[in-house]
Amino acid sequence: MTDHKMYLKQNVVIEPLINQWYAWSSLLSPATAAMFIANHHLKVMQSFVNSPQIHVNALKNPAMLGGPFISYEAGRSGEIRTLMEKTTREQAHMLELATAIKTLHEMLIAEADGCSLESMYLRIPDLLKGFVELVYDLNNYPAVRFIEGLLYRSRYYDLSSQSIGLSPMFKDERPFTLSSPKLEDDSWLHVRIPFRSEAIDELAKMKDVPQPLEYVKEALGLDEQNRLFSSFFTTVAPPPRDDYEDDAVRIRYFGHACLLVQTKHVSILSDPVVSYGYPTDFYRYTYSDLPERIDYVVLTHNHQDHCMFESLLQLRHKIKTVIVPKNNGGSLADVSMKMVVEQLGFRDVREIDEMEAIEVPDGKIIGLPFLGEHADLNVRSKTAYFVQLRGKSMLFAADSNNIDPELYQHIHEAIGNVDVLFLGMECEGAPLSWLYGPLLTKPVTRKMDQSRRFSGSDCARGLGIVEKLKPTQVYVYAMGQEPWLTYLTSIQYTETSRPIVESNKLVASCQDQGLVSIRLYGHMELFL
Ligand SMILES: [Fe+2]
Ligand SMILES: [Fe+2]
Repeated sequence: MTDHKMYLKQNVVIEPLINQWYAWSSLLSPATAAMFIANHHLKVMQSFVNSPQIHVNALKNPAMLGGPFISYEAGRSGEIRTLMEKTTREQAHMLELATAIKTLHEMLIAEADGCSLESMYLRIPDLLKGFVELVYDLNNYPAVRFIEGLLYRSRYYDLSSQSIGLSPMFKDERPFTLSSPKLEDDSWLHVRIPFRSEAIDELAKMKDVPQPLEYVKEALGLDEQNRLFSSFFTTVAPPPRDDYEDDAVRIRYFGHACLLVQTKHVSILSDPVVSYGYPTDFYRYTYSDLPERIDYVVLTHNHQDHCMFESLLQLRHKIKTVIVPKNNGGSLADVSMKMVVEQLGFRDVREIDEMEAIEVPDGKIIGLPFLGEHADLNVRSKTAYFVQLRGKSMLFAADSNNIDPELYQHIHEAIGNVDVLFLGMECEGAPLSWLYGPLLTKPVTRKMDQSRRFSGSDCARGLGIVEKLKPTQVYVYAMGQEPWLTYLTSIQYTETSRPIVESNKLVASCQDQGLVSIRLYGHMELFL
């Protein structure tokens, strides 16, 4: 039997999907999912079915990559139509939920005048009754509070919408994934299992521990002989794993905002976004470079490129604890990351508050405030992480926008100097509607939309953090430039793009001050 044991190849993509769309938090949480199905998925599919050539032509222009265009050839519009009809049929209850959400907000805006909201409960659309509370803030602005925990236990959370797509990957280029559904074909296998299924762990573990093919087929519920599936496996063992046993703190950059910090006693991984392994001239760390066990994963915020289901699910079997930012609870803009990660099948998920410390072997992790980068929406699910191990400290600031430099003065008073700063500088972020458009219950003007953006710190703001926290090393993330990540970020910078210009300036200024500073790209290793 041993002879028949196989490894999962390092280049097999395991892509989580919801209704055949690339899964992320807003597609998982029921109320936001309803809004995305109604206001994004069906609209984009309808547009493609009406005039596929417009989509094909648009995507010839790299600047359009992140736009609402489906990246299939026009000849596949029949399949898109079939998916659109299937979605309309099977997700009818979600479409009704989206309509009810809109109706309730319209009613609230029109009628809530600062007087009691109690009389309105009778007129809440039936399918939302018992799932919402109507509230005012202290300025008498009305809002709907969704009871997310109950919605996850209702018919609006349907595990049969979840599946994984499997496909071999040979090169970095992958079509932009947030604007297109996934169609099954001879290179793309669709397995209908919920994300929480342990079969995903069994499959992912096979990158290291071989099993008979029959074993994993049975776990995934695949019965017949499937040639594509069989091609995902090999008898060739992966390269031996590097166990880290030295005294220094080791930091490895895996791309984007993903950093692995290790001592002999603990391993911490931030915002896991990991490259698959396949032959390439562009060296990077891949799944096979991660340790056998990851003690803590820290997630900074809920954007698709930071709370990335694809990497999280494949690493679930080796992750002990996931630390997530606390959220406000109940608003469409700010779904609970704790509930999301629990629904992904993680058992040990901890929320961290601003300035809260969690003790870990060799040190501690402190959640720090993270301002901005969310188009001024009241999103609390954002945390920068201060990690202190063996007396060395680092700050994973992710996309923190230093809108108010006084914040870092207060932070410095609380935590002191930071040795190493990691900061994103996407200072020309997309407008509000790019990410949250489908959730808006009231239209925004173009002026509002253009002014409210997903922008991180520019050079002056980044230097403000440096000045206050006094790091000796300053690293700017590659900001989605790694070619294996453009399928998620749609970013194609040039030397004149503002994030490049601003981060060049910041790096130069830090170097002038005698600090170690670079903009990261691909991989890096450093010891403290
Ligand atoms: Fe972000
Ligand atoms: Fe980001």
